[in-house]
Amino acid sequence: MSGEKPPVEICKGVNGLDKVVLREVRGSSAEVYLYGGHVTSWRNDHGEELLFLSTKAIFKPPKAIRGGIPICFPQFGSHGNLDQHGFARNRFWSIDATPPPFPTVSTNKAFTDLIFKPSEEDLKIWPHSYEFRLRITLGPGGDLMLTSRIRNIDTKPFSFTFAYHTYLSVSDISEVRIEGLETLDYLDNLKAKERFTEQGDAITFETEVDKIYLGTPTKIAIIDHEKKRTFVLRKDGLPDAVVWNPWEKAKSIADLGDDEYKHMLCVEPAAVEKAITLKPGEEWKGRLELSAVPSSYRSGQLDPQRVLQG
Ligand code: BG6
Repeated sequence: MSGEKPPVEICKGVNGLDKVVLREVRGSSAEVYLYGGHVTSWRNDHGEELLFLSTKAIFKPPKAIRGGIPICFPQFGSHGNLDQHGFARNRFWSIDATPPPFPTVSTNKAFTDLIFKPSEEDLKIWPHSYEFRLRITLGPGGDLMLTSRIRNIDTKPFSFTFAYHTYLSVSDISEVRIEGLETLDYLDNLKAKERFTEQGDAITFETEVDKIYLGTPTKIAIIDHEKKRTFVLRKDGLPDAVVWNPWEKAKSIADLGDDEYKHMLCVEPAAVEKAITLKPGEEWKGRLELSAVPSSYRSGQLDPQRVLQG
């Protein structure tokens, strides 16, 4: 139909920055900025925003956009000598016109392929040659899928750490719990990265949290009691999961509103504890799949186990 919007549209976003809009026939959508290869919006078929984006987000280099899904590469956090979270999140990516094929053919139309290659300046900071390809897809049910493929095109091996720094939009952080990480070991960023074992049945929030959970399952559920919504996060190639909420520290983060911590939760599929090493010619793949489903009930209780096992 002539009035129908296309599944993929390249247009201008905030401050004239290029963005790709993905639309799925049932109404869900996503927006991706070439600046950072950064997903800034993911909406369900009711038009509800599912990712958190700060009202104070600065869409201007060199600052990374606060919210959505920043890509942390080639370094997660301060686990190395580079700037916090590496530099892929504040570089301009390009549309990848000729991505190498994926092993399985998909019938989805709402997807885009981006590529990031280091500039001469980048090579001075991190002297390794690679091609970083990122495919972002909206599935038929409105699921959001990100696949990163990083290929070593250098003559020497290199190692990196990585995270999809996913900011989920939540009704109220006090009403949220995470299932799938209980009893796991974690490194506590608030305690000099010391290693602890998580106690208790589920992860809930009443203060600042900044933990790197290790050896995490491929499926994690984030249950928003007030919204009666569960985010199901599936991941592949990413053994760790960072959980971050700054709480009162939000006041000291210039591009985050003082109270906005109440409406965000970062659950970040990551490879941090053990760096990924690629020999020349080798490729690494890391995948994130997000879906948002109505929370199910059993005996009046939300039943995340059904979500995790389903
Ligand atoms: C999290 C880290 O992933 O990102 C935190 O674990 C950090 O330590 C947070 O504070 C935000 O980082 P930034 O650089 O985007 O302000």
